[in-house]
Amino acid sequence: MPDDTTEVPPLLRLRGVSKSFGPVQALTGVDLDVPGGAVTALAGDNGAGKSTLIKCIAGIHAPDQGEMFWEGVRVHLHTPADAAALGIQTVYQDLALCDNLDIVQNMFLGRERVRRGQLDDVSMEQAAAATLTDLAVTTVRSVRQQVASLSGGQRQSVAIAKAVLWESKLVVMDEPTAALGVAQTRMVLDLVRTLARRGHAVLLISHNLVDVMAVSDQVAVMRHGRVVDVRPRDRIDERILVDLMTTGTSDREVSANARGTDLEGRVVP
Ligand SMILES: Nc1ncnc2c1ncn2[C@@H]1O[C@H](COP(=O)(O)OP(=O)(O)O)[C@@H](O)[C@H]1O
Ligand SMILES: [Mg+2]
Repeated sequence: MPDDTTEVPPLLRLRGVSKSFGPVQALTGVDLDVPGGAVTALAGDNGAGKSTLIKCIAGIHAPDQGEMFWEGVRVHLHTPADAAALGIQTVYQDLALCDNLDIVQNMFLGRERVRRGQLDDVSMEQAAAATLTDLAVTTVRSVRQQVASLSGGQRQSVAIAKAVLWESKLVVMDEPTAALGVAQTRMVLDLVRTLARRGHAVLLISHNLVDVMAVSDQVAVMRHGRVVDVRPRDRIDERILVDLMTTGTSDREVSANARGTDLEGRVVP
């Protein structure tokens, strides 16, 4: 008999998480396990509760009910700083960066390096550039460029690099490609895979089924505030995903020719 107590807990475990806003029940009894070193996609139609769920994980909303475990230990997050202290970083579509600051200032915002009472610009600049290079973000010309002048994909890349710089264990992204064109979407999705390869957990919210199919290791589907199904990537295809998003169930089999391709264009097994 396997001994349950020796099981390695997932990085993040949610059990029975509920949240309402006045009369609106945004989340109802959500159970979800987010493993390290893998991309978990959170899919669902508009209003399904995806953003509310990640705001609970990010310490922005306190759930009304339910439990949250980090590396097997029960935690209570009251502020985004509590989440950041655990190693949870959230990359929002628009709010991730400050326009009027440059890339270095953004990546070190609130955690500036100081040396002899002065900002250590040289060390911060080197660390910011090294992190971007390490992630193969090659389109940024200078780390002293104002963030306002960056493209949408570059901004997302900088926000992701910031999460890496701060050694986040879980990077949560809410619709990171919603406003991006094809090439920039590809760049951000490549970075998502890179994060997972390096051992970070990624929780990616998207209602773009192509994105979900391209990058995820497991897919959790939300509908009307509940997680209705969680499946490994090889047990889901676009038709099943649409079924789950719209009705909450699917009795289809994964069709061999609908399994899609990964970012390198290989057919997903
Ligand atoms: N701050 C809020 N106040 C009131 N209702 C909210 C708030 N945030 C979300 N909701 C409601 O909760 C439900 C889930 O919303 P949301 O989590 O944003 O869904 P999704 O991100 O999946 O589109 C919706 O009905 C939405 O109107
Ligand atoms: Mg949302």
